[in-house]
Amino acid sequence: MKTEVIAIDSRRPQAAAVARAADVLRGAGLVAFPTETVYGLGANALDRAAVAKIFAAKGRPATNPLIVHVSSVEQVAEIAASWPPVAQLLAERFWPGPLTLVLEKHPNLPDIVTAGGKTVAARSPAHAVAQGLIRAAGLPIAAPSANLSTRVSPTRAEHVLRDLDGKIDLVLDGGPTPGGLESTVLDLTSSPPVLLRPGLIAPIEIEAVIGRIQRRPPVGGTAGDAPARSPGMLARHYAPCVPLECVAESRSRVKQLRDAGLRVGWLALAPAGNMNECGLFTLELPADPAAYGAQLYAALHTLEALAPDRIVVELPPDEESWLAVRDRLRRAAASAGQGT
Ligand code: TXA
Ligand code: MG
Repeated sequence: MKTEVIAIDSRRPQAAAVARAADVLRGAGLVAFPTETVYGLGANALDRAAVAKIFAAKGRPATNPLIVHVSSVEQVAEIAASWPPVAQLLAERFWPGPLTLVLEKHPNLPDIVTAGGKTVAARSPAHAVAQGLIRAAGLPIAAPSANLSTRVSPTRAEHVLRDLDGKIDLVLDGGPTPGGLESTVLDLTSSPPVLLRPGLIAPIEIEAVIGRIQRRPPVGGTAGDAPARSPGMLARHYAPCVPLECVAESRSRVKQLRDAGLRVGWLALAPAGNMNECGLFTLELPADPAAYGAQLYAALHTLEALAPDRIVVELPPDEESWLAVRDRLRRAAASAGQGT
């Protein structure tokens, strides 16, 4: 299949481009589109066959459920059977935005979307292209991140194409995504609500609205065919192709590897100083969690493309403001075989 790429304005999306992408979605096709977090790979959530194409294109295990994107709270009624008061409070505060709410699934939503589970993850994205697309299609849109399963999430159209060119119908290229890390996933089907994936919205912001939540993410998957509590939390989920390690004292580790003759990609925290030399590629990320998060995946894609023997990442401090960044780094560093 030839993958079409259409450039689109991220603030004022051209109506013709949005209409073309909505047509593809209504015709059971796959469209990659920018959100405020990362690029998503969308399909009509109500069409079983369309959703099956997402799993095929990504090589995603059927046990890993998808997030369904809606344009409004009203549209949640098409995919979820319940809308508890805490959901209403959170949506009023954070939607549209990078907060995904796990709710009881609507019986009409195809089982493939939720990996056979009884719950559905819903979010309303705060990006003009994503919102415009959902509205124009008139459908809830199932959309995981637009990367091959277990690989680094895409924050630019070129990252999407690197993984999925020839496997999907269309990419709407709206430039870099502003947030850079995925949404926070919060399970509202248990009490207190459980943080399943740290993300752009911090736990403390959520607690300011609904009180205490359970912060400890669940561990690992489950036995048999049942969907894991949060399958995306399996250890190795955000993995670059090059072996990656996170260390507190990265400068000395880089030197050690260089002395051993390895070609190293170094993801340093500013200020690291200019350390580029033959066989050493240094990228410096800002020492501010939000700015760091916005650039992390693009930096990993860049270092990966240089094909060093090892990527060394300076581990940011163990503070709550770095929770989402440290979560993604830990997964990127997890050794192969520890999950899918
Ligand atoms: O920011 C984001 O959330 C991006 C953009 C495209 O919206 N999407 C995204 O989707 O990151 P994905 O599929 O890469 O990650 C979805 C996460 C996974 O960890 C998945 O296991 C979890 O949400 N999830 C989905 N449905 C679930 C459910 N019913 N119960 C528990 N976890 C669920
Ligand atoms: Mg993903």
